[in-house]
Amino acid sequence: MTSPTTTPLGAALDRLLDGLPPRQATAAVERLIASYRGRTVSAAPILRDRADAVAYAAYRMPATFEAISAALRELAGRLPDWAPDSHLDLGGGTGAAVWAGAGTWPGGPRETTVVDWSEPAIALGRELADGAGLPVDWRRERLTPGVGLPAADLVTVSYLLGELPEPAREGLVDAAAAAAGAAVVVVEPGTPDGYLRVRAARDRLLAAGLVIVAPCPHDATCPIEPGADWCHFAARVSRSALHRRVKGGVLPYEDEKFSYVAATRNAPATAAPPRVVRRPQLRKGQVLLDLCTPDAALRRETVTRRQGPAYRAARDTSWGAGWPE
Ligand SMILES: C[S@@+](CC[C@H](N)C(=O)[O-])C[C@H]1O[C@@H](n2cnc3c(N)ncnc32)[C@H](O)[C@@H]1O
Repeated sequence: MTSPTTTPLGAALDRLLDGLPPRQATAAVERLIASYRGRTVSAAPILRDRADAVAYAAYRMPATFEAISAALRELAGRLPDWAPDSHLDLGGGTGAAVWAGAGTWPGGPRETTVVDWSEPAIALGRELADGAGLPVDWRRERLTPGVGLPAADLVTVSYLLGELPEPAREGLVDAAAAAAGAAVVVVEPGTPDGYLRVRAARDRLLAAGLVIVAPCPHDATCPIEPGADWCHFAARVSRSALHRRVKGGVLPYEDEKFSYVAATRNAPATAAPPRVVRRPQLRKGQVLLDLCTPDAALRRETVTRRQGPAYRAARDTSWGAGWPE
């Protein structure tokens, strides 16, 4: 979606890793990958100590930051006259959504609260955010379905639902909807399972009376047949030196696949355009766009060179954008 540049978060993470012996950092990342490869639903925090938190920050946070930023940009694009005054991030870990919120709206939300049950993640998140002057109230708390949450204009739930046992997910999304004065954004990995969790969350948000503003241009049932396909998008992420060392490869970037839903209490003033739900296919003199449309259908549109400006726009459009933009 966006090309990788050195973000303020990237610079903060580089500084964090500067003093760390490479072997120690690599070992921590490998341990983290192993934890996440197994069952991720866990009765205790996966990020148990500082090394785990640093590994998460170095290895996953740049990607989750880009995915959340992409989702928040879509929300902001649908509500151009709105900015959150307060932000509550659930299962916020090392604070990716804090940085994404601050980067999406000039000046960022005035008040940000992060809730997470991992003390080492919170400690590192605080250290990173303090270094950038981002004011955050960090709360160490276990999120359970009945948990009381502080009210906030914007509530984000990113890469958390997969770590909760299934019965707890619905309650957590209901609690997020109840706490949100204006908007809820849920982000999950762009896998078939991540999509199903987002789809279930979307149903709960609709049941709570919210309206969907992205990525779906409608509030009807998702037209994708579960199991046959999954709705997801991609965010480009710069790969750090540590990332390259652990994962190998030479590319300076990779694409983080993510699924998301953004819902608001009040409908935006303008109707949503169709959404490009796959990478556009460029053919000779043609661009093929796979769209999800406001009447809740999946449709392929072929834009040909003869269509002049529309063709040029189609060549420039991207996976995840509205069409026409
Ligand atoms: C994969 S990390 C995502 C962190 C962050 N939201 C991001 O997008 O980078 C999941 C986070 O959820 C937290 N978490 C998982 N289950 C939790 C629970 N029941 N209560 C509070 N936090 C929880 C973990 O400690 C971890 O920091």
